[in-house]
Amino acid sequence: MTTQAMRPMRWPGRLWWGLAGLLSLLVAVFSYRYLAGVGPLAPNVLANTFAAPWLIVHVAGAATALLIGSFQFIGPLRRRVPVAHRWTGRVYAVGCLVGGVGGLMLAPGSTAGPVAAAGFAVLAMFWLTTTTLGWRTAVARDFVAHRRWMIRSWALTLAAVTLRLYMVGTPLIPVDPVDGYRAIAWLCWVPNLLIAELYLRRA
Ligand code: HEM
Repeated sequence: MTTQAMRPMRWPGRLWWGLAGLLSLLVAVFSYRYLAGVGPLAPNVLANTFAAPWLIVHVAGAATALLIGSFQFIGPLRRRVPVAHRWTGRVYAVGCLVGGVGGLMLAPGSTAGPVAAAGFAVLAMFWLTTTTLGWRTAVARDFVAHRRWMIRSWALTLAAVTLRLYMVGTPLIPVDPVDGYRAIAWLCWVPNLLIAELYLRRA
């Protein structure tokens, strides 16, 4: 078994992780409305060519991963109840894989065209890859590699949060909404992954 002594996180870091965790819970719970078919549903997404059946598949898996992912990083919880970490980790990974396949199927049907489709499709492929490697390294008990792949996977899962933050900010800048959405299909995850890589270099 490979282990690594991890430096305890400092306060600014804890604050960012906490904020990301809180926002992820809110976005996850709000997203389940697609499963119930209630509340404000985005017309452009309902118009996605592949919305039936893939939107339901995507939201069911992705929102579940988003709901539980932040808890996986709480050190004391992981150390005191490792069996819970293992089971919620499996649910997280299955959520990412189901959500990722759903996202990959939805991507080419985006009403925003090929630039947005490519952004979502590449995100889905990275998400499936990082999560699969995170799972495989856990099974192989290589916990150093497992932690690194799961940090990358979580940074990509958080694309759901950053996408919505950018969507809220877009009306404040003079840009065509569809062009803004095309840019967001990339901006929602590329910076997240870069930040994760910078963090991993220092950790
Ligand atoms: C990280 C990989 C992800 C990929 C590749 C992805 C991909 C997509 C795609 C292609 C669409 C349709 C967009 C369109 O038609 O223009 C979509 C919509 C949606 N996705 Fe994801 N997604 C990801 C993560 C997540 C996560 C983690 C959640 C969890 C809440 C989520 C929840 C939703 C919801 C609720 C919609 C409907 C649109 C809305 O209300 O904004 N997605 N996603």
